[in-house]
Amino acid sequence: MRALVTGGAGFIGSHVVERLLQAGWQVGVVDDLSTGQRANVPPGVQLHVSSLLDPELPEWVAYFGPDVVFHLAAQVKVSRSLAAPVRDAQINIEGSIRLLEACRQLGKVRRVVYASSAAVYGEPHVLPLPEEHPIHPLTPYGLSKYTVEQYLAIYRHLYGLSYTVLRYANVYGPRQDASGEGGVVAIFAERVSHGKAPVLFGDGAQTRDFVYASDVAQANLLAAQTPEADGQVFNIGTSQPIRIDELADHMQREAARLWGVPAVPRVHQAPRPGDIRDSCLDYRKAKEVLGWQPQVPLDEGLRRTLEWYRQQRLVGPAERSDR
Ligand SMILES: NC(=O)c1ccc[n+]([C@@H]2O[C@H](COP(=O)([O-])OP(=O)(O)OC[C@H]3O[C@@H](n4cnc5c(N)ncnc54)[C@H](O)[C@@H]3O)[C@@H](O)[C@H]2O)c1
Repeated sequence: MRALVTGGAGFIGSHVVERLLQAGWQVGVVDDLSTGQRANVPPGVQLHVSSLLDPELPEWVAYFGPDVVFHLAAQVKVSRSLAAPVRDAQINIEGSIRLLEACRQLGKVRRVVYASSAAVYGEPHVLPLPEEHPIHPLTPYGLSKYTVEQYLAIYRHLYGLSYTVLRYANVYGPRQDASGEGGVVAIFAERVSHGKAPVLFGDGAQTRDFVYASDVAQANLLAAQTPEADGQVFNIGTSQPIRIDELADHMQREAARLWGVPAVPRVHQAPRPGDIRDSCLDYRKAKEVLGWQPQVPLDEGLRRTLEWYRQQRLVGPAERSDR
């Protein structure tokens, strides 16, 4: 099987690439390296450095000839979607339509697996959120993610292009950008593994659902392989709400246990406007239809993540041992 992974040089995309290679797929990546890194793409994978907005995209897609397209490339920063909504829509909506057009023209793509987000739901009415929860995105980013879900449905209806939508909770793990927003585990890991205080917005009692990157990669593989997943939407989370202050405490304790790093008192800053208080996804449908469930417990995922960030700082990104 030939897989094209858009955004495959990024955090989650690189875990998807890794999983597909393990499963024996041939993998190509399209990524403009705007936030992704060449070093995240393993040897043997064809990397095409290009934007989704590049007019030559269809030619490259046709040249590579994928059976399945895993579409993860996106402008992922909520704050940037507020500051520059036109750019957000260009990359996330127009870029996705261009990709779907390329798939349609090629005519042999068996499925598009799309990386959507819990951000499509907005403020939760019930926790954990099932897929039937009302859709009410509160940011241009959330709306752009949902708009593409709708385009996928239209392309299936009009042209028979099969698709599966995966709505991720908060994904964490090695290779996440610690300078970005939203990646709270990455930001904490970068700081606490070197004895710096974690910075919390608000009182820290807000909760999130943290799912490990390799589990998300496995969900992508299953979504591509499960016939019943055609035209379906799945939440990919753990259904376990975790308080942010408890997350910070746990990571500090773990850094102390692993390396003797002393835990310094955490710092609280004003809550960020627009932040949802609680977010948690019900993954029962993914379990029933895809046979997916999270495998990496939070303790284990956090330990692996801390170790990776610690090593990054010690050896530098250019010499990453795991890529
Ligand atoms: N990280 C999370 O917790 C999370 C949660 C929900 C959904 N998602 C979705 O998962 C996907 C991957 O996110 P991530 O966290 O790995 O972010 P990331 O920034 O690491 O990955 C995005 C990748 O897309 C590439 N890219 C951006 N614009 C592009 C363009 N115009 N053309 C080609 N490539 C482009 C970037 O260079 C990067 O490699 C995104 O679609 C995001 O919306 C992520």
